[in-house]
Amino acid sequence: MNVKKPADLRSHAWYGDEGLRAFGHRSRTRQMGIGAEEHLGKPVIGIVNTWSEINPCHTHLRQRAEEVKRGVWQAGGYPVELPAISLSEPFQKPSTMLYRNLLAMETEELLRSYPIDGAVLMGGCDKTTPALLMGAASMDIPAIFVPAGPMLRGNWRGTTLGSGSDVWKFWADKRAGVIGEQEWAEIEEGIARSPGHCMTMGTASTMTSAAEALGMTLPGAASILAADSAHARMAAATGIRIVEMVWNDRKPSQILDERAYLDAVATVLALGGSTNAVIHLIAMARRSKAKLTLDDFDAVSRKVPVLANVRPTGAYLMEDFYYAGGLRALLWQLREVLHLDRLTATGHTFGEVIEGAEVHDADVIRPLDKPVWPEGGVAILRGNLAPNGAVIKHAAMDARFLQHTGPAVVFDNYKDLQARINDESLPITPDTVLVLRGTGPKGGPGMPEYGMLPIPDRLLKQGVRDMLRLSDARMSGTSYGACVLHISPESHIGGPLAFVRDGDRITLDVAARRLDVDLSDEELERRRAEWTAPAPAYGRGYGALYLEHIGQAEDGCDFDFLAREGVVAEPESR
Ligand code: FES
Ligand code: MG
Repeated sequence: MNVKKPADLRSHAWYGDEGLRAFGHRSRTRQMGIGAEEHLGKPVIGIVNTWSEINPCHTHLRQRAEEVKRGVWQAGGYPVELPAISLSEPFQKPSTMLYRNLLAMETEELLRSYPIDGAVLMGGCDKTTPALLMGAASMDIPAIFVPAGPMLRGNWRGTTLGSGSDVWKFWADKRAGVIGEQEWAEIEEGIARSPGHCMTMGTASTMTSAAEALGMTLPGAASILAADSAHARMAAATGIRIVEMVWNDRKPSQILDERAYLDAVATVLALGGSTNAVIHLIAMARRSKAKLTLDDFDAVSRKVPVLANVRPTGAYLMEDFYYAGGLRALLWQLREVLHLDRLTATGHTFGEVIEGAEVHDADVIRPLDKPVWPEGGVAILRGNLAPNGAVIKHAAMDARFLQHTGPAVVFDNYKDLQARINDESLPITPDTVLVLRGTGPKGGPGMPEYGMLPIPDRLLKQGVRDMLRLSDARMSGTSYGACVLHISPESHIGGPLAFVRDGDRITLDVAARRLDVDLSDEELERRRAEWTAPAPAYGRGYGALYLEHIGQAEDGCDFDFLAREGVVAEPESR
């Protein structure tokens, strides 16, 4: 049932009237070889594409955009592709996180400033998913997401290799002398062998799955492998669907409510997903004017077990997860804790789109009574070292650190860490608590994924594979270990982490959700008085804008001027 007529379309303000500007828009469309009958009165669909030759996770999105266009044309729409900055996790320095808000801003302004009636958002590599959805939520015109899909399993001498996770594992083996140059070179050739994003449960698989759980994709879309022909068909079907969404005026604000975000949190936790999701979902929820806090993650975590047996928490990879039934099958098992009656982009309720989805391999997608881990993968910690919160992925760590006290060895920044971690004169034992600071949203800058601090070579050779590590950084979703992350406030702005010294005793107690340093308030205040803030990393340009406006982790690291409410008028012609 259409609620819109052609004259109601947003693009009508560009093409529809009799004035000089509209003449210009029409004549310039003729210039592109498009006849009047091909586009006038049709929904204009902006395909925001993060394809780039520097992004291996999105190489297929150039072709997929063509398939989306095929669907749009078939449904009676007019597709226009809008290239947007590609945040390529393997290449972009210092961190793609520095640029998530830039892509969010670009997405929003592309949709606003052009005659776009509906948007197809194309991404998947880590930060691209939250960025595209944040921009679309703020713009609030009909929008749907095409997840890039995971790459095929890695392969090395007949064993499967997982993105990230196996890099860390074999890098440790190489440094410990377990494998040599030849093996390492073969792993380089076998670990990433098709288009698509990381196929472990890293940030990419976590966030595309969250997008599906939010209701912002076609059913099942997030689990489809990039290289599978089903992926091309999903892209075309998405093109068809967005045209209907425009006629029905199905906007993100009708889909992305508080229930949707709580369901996304439950999904992420049942997947044993990336800790980065904590930051991204909070940022996305704020754009949707939905309330979501760190405490929601902890509360949901206590009632949702990890069901996806996918690395780094579990054993398998996204290819196995897809064949086992994919996200819909997992969600159907989880239905008791989900909000089934809310609306999705399909026009159907969430319950309808997951109904009856079957698990084909109960070892990959576990039943509730045989979970990979009895509670959700993420715990939120507080204490005198993290007054505003910290995060730990306690499902993917050595259980002996769940409650642990040890002396600190402190590194002031990443360079300091690199320079001294193997310094034999440091009193590091397996019980030491390694502390890294200067790596938060402002200090990093961009909160890089330094949170899985390397274990000193000499301990690796003794067989040590996990230690308690603390930082104000993030950690790759493919990483693992006893790493306390996102400590807030960050050290750069005078959070307590800034005042820790070598030898201070630090206690982690996951069951009590506590992270404390054994120092009195008076001693912390005394050290604060002696402390001078580090110099900002940028004096001009985007970096300076970033430093002036970036928020802390518990608020989602959005820019203050993007997160806040306020009027933005529709653009008018000159
Ligand atoms: Fe793109 Fe991992 S590098 S998803
Ligand atoms: Mg990553």
